[in-house]
Formats: sequence, structure tokens, C-alpha cells
Amino acid sequence: MSNVAIIGAQWGDEGKGKIVDLFTHDADIIVRFQGGNNAGHTLVVNGKKTVLHLVPSGALHGDKLCVIGNGVVVDPEILIEEIDALKAQGHLQSDAQLRISEQAHVIMPYHKAIDLARERLRGKGKIGTTGRGIGPAYEDKVARVGIRFVDLLEEDTFREKLERNIEEKNFYLKAILQEKALDFAEIHDNYGRYRDKLKGYVTNTGLLLDQRIRAGKRVLFEGAQGTLLDVDHGTYPYVTSSSTVTGGACSGSGVGPQHIQQVIGISKAYTTRVGSGPFPTELDGPDGETLRREGAEFGATTGRSRRCGWFDAVTVRHAVRMNGLTGVALTKLDVLTGFKKIPICTAYRFNGQTVDEFPASSKVMAGAQPVYEEMDGWDERLDDVRKFSDLPATVRKYVKRIEEVIGTEIILVSVGPGREQTIVLRNPFDR
Ligand code: IMP
Repeated sequence: MSNVAIIGAQWGDEGKGKIVDLFTHDADIIVRFQGGNNAGHTLVVNGKKTVLHLVPSGALHGDKLCVIGNGVVVDPEILIEEIDALKAQGHLQSDAQLRISEQAHVIMPYHKAIDLARERLRGKGKIGTTGRGIGPAYEDKVARVGIRFVDLLEEDTFREKLERNIEEKNFYLKAILQEKALDFAEIHDNYGRYRDKLKGYVTNTGLLLDQRIRAGKRVLFEGAQGTLLDVDHGTYPYVTSSSTVTGGACSGSGVGPQHIQQVIGISKAYTTRVGSGPFPTELDGPDGETLRREGAEFGATTGRSRRCGWFDAVTVRHAVRMNGLTGVALTKLDVLTGFKKIPICTAYRFNGQTVDEFPASSKVMAGAQPVYEEMDGWDERLDDVRKFSDLPATVRKYVKRIEEVIGTEIILVSVGPGREQTIVLRNPFDR
């Protein structure tokens, strides 16, 4: 019996939400282990669209336990909004369906103010963050001044930490970032209210997960963002501030590695990225426009239009190795319909050299010229196809070639946003 991690194999937005939702049927517990409300998972179930930023996608299934692990940074205001919205739609009817780690860090108003002000001051060199305070919240965690849920729950601890932090942050906001100071009393009152609304969900989730796993329950670890946005293994410094790779699933949930048997990477059949940073296969011309239009490539969280390009095997191979992927789900294959030729990037050229492995140097990555292999395109619509053998031969050839160049089995292809528009070749929970 397997527990499964689902990890973004590119720069996020690979369609993880849909795949997580699909495999949620086979899991008892769904765990978020990193990131915060910078993530946005769009789910389309029975034609109805739901966007979740914090609550794991399992919330749409009444019998699943959703866990927000210790590695997540939580904006309590947003979480409350999301819980209320889900409840209003008839989901999350029992409070016992959601658990928040007492060790998860709380995003504070100064984190958001710092995130936004820094991006403004960076001007052209900005990272293109989602402006949700994610980076500054993780900074405080590592600097050992963060406020965890367990701290928020203890009024005296919370007051003391908030007083100390507000003093320091207000100095930084005013003197360095030329921003207004924040008001202690207002934050204290608001967060007191958030505490009252959320305290019933807060617990020792690492222990809870261990108990459930020992009792034979099946866990799905739901990654957010993607491998190339990982703070260690991504296109640093144009990354997010958490460990988006499989290793992060262990540290971010308090579950040992022996409990994760299958790791599925999600990759689009092409590539997208939001925010700044290198993107070797990016298409600036009409082909990029076509991908954006056909793929509706606009961010679920910020609404920003996504940068689009061809499939990049160098980055996905890196994701395969870094995460120990046991399979890849290839999404949005239908979007490629209509292209005469579809290039696959198999390596880069930089300074006259061939680069086969993902380079750590931002300079090499920024100057990398893709080496393309051209595949034949197809004109057939794929959104109604439900069997791999019913896909046109050119499409099957494209999928098989991707499988070869990344060196990993493709276990699923997705041909549309709906749950039913999916061709599952192997269910990871069956291993
Ligand atoms: P932050 O996570 O808001 O600090 O943003 C850092 C970088 O990660 C920026 O380039 C964001 O656009 C990117 N990013 C953060 N979350 C997501 C996501 O869920 N999908 C895609 N990109 C993301």
C-alpha cells in the first residue's frame, strides 16, 4: 500500500490541483506541506470551478482529512475566508475534516507590507512575488522570530512576540522601505479574532499523521509551486522561499521518508512560468500567444498572464532526479492541438558548449539557448479522448518521446480541465 507525493516538476501551475483531486479518491488524508496562499489550485468538478489557495483539494470530498502541515505559512484571514466559502458551498461540513499544524507559521501584516515594498524598490530586478508575504514569513521562521499557531494560541506568548516583532518591523518598514508603520493594537485584535475562529483546527499534525499511517490510512502529499521554484534546487534567486521538492514533504509534514512510496511529478506538455527569472524555451512571438490563449495561461492566484514556451526536458530531468519521481503526469496535452511542429528542448547551448544538466549559475541559465528536436504536430481535438490508444499516432509519439528524454514513465495524460478529461495509465496508489 502506497502513500503518494504529488510534486510540481516545472515552475508551478502544472495542473497539480486537478491531479491531486483525481487521486484524492484513493487517499484518506491530503497534506499540504509547504508554501502558503501563493499557491492556487483551480479545480473543475461537474463544470463548477473552485480555486483553493490553502486548504488541500481534498476538502471537496466529505470523507477526507485535510492537513495543513508545519511547513506551510498560513495567512489566517485568507484561510478563514476559504473555510467560510467552502462551508457555504456545502463542503467542510465537519470541523474535524481540517487540521492545522500547531507548528505552522502565521503570516502577519508586516510580512505582506515588506514583500510588497521590497518588490516595489527592486524595480526591474524584482522577483515577481505574489505579494502575499510568503518570503518574509519564511525569513522570520529561519531567523527564529516567527509566530507559530501554538504561539498564537497562547495569549501571553503571542503578545510578547508581536510586541517585539512590531517594534523591529516598523523600524525596518519606515527607515529602510519608506513605508508606514503598522498598528500593534489593530493587529493584536484582528489576530485574536482569527485565533478564536481557527483554534479548533490546530493540533500536532505530525503525530496525527503517524497514528493514521500506522492504522493503514493512505496519505497524499500535495505539493505547491514546482521544483524550479524550490529555494535550494530552483532558479535561485527567482524562486519561492520553501522546499517544494519531495524532501520538503517530509520536513514540512513531520512524516519520515519511509512513508512515501510513490512520487508523481506533474508537468505540462509545454512550459509556463509566472514572475521573473530565466526561462530558456520561452516564446515571445505568436506561438507563445497561442499557448497562452489556448491554455488559458493566467495565474489562479494573481491573475497575471503566464510566460509560455516549449517543453524543456533539461528542467524536467532535473525534477525527476531531485524528487526521485516514480512517474510523471503530463497535463494540458490538448493545448498543443493545431501546431504544425512541436519542438522539445533536449539540452542547452551556452558559450559553444552543450549543457545537459540543469545549471546552478543564473548567468548560464539566463544565456542558455535551447537545443530543439522537432516533433510533428496534430490537428485533432483531444478533449474527448479517454483511452491512450485512441490518441492520434502523432500525439502518442510526442508523449513517448517525452518519456524517453526525461527517462521516466508517464502515468497519466490530461486532455482538458475536467476530472473526466484524464487518461490514467497507472494509478500510483496501486503500487
Ligand atoms: P512568492 O512565492 O510569492 O515569494 O513568489 C516567488 C516566485 O514564485 C515568483 O516568481 C512567483 O510568481 C512564483 N510563485 C509562487 N507561487 C506560485 C505558484 O503557485 N505558481 C507559480 N508560480 C508561483
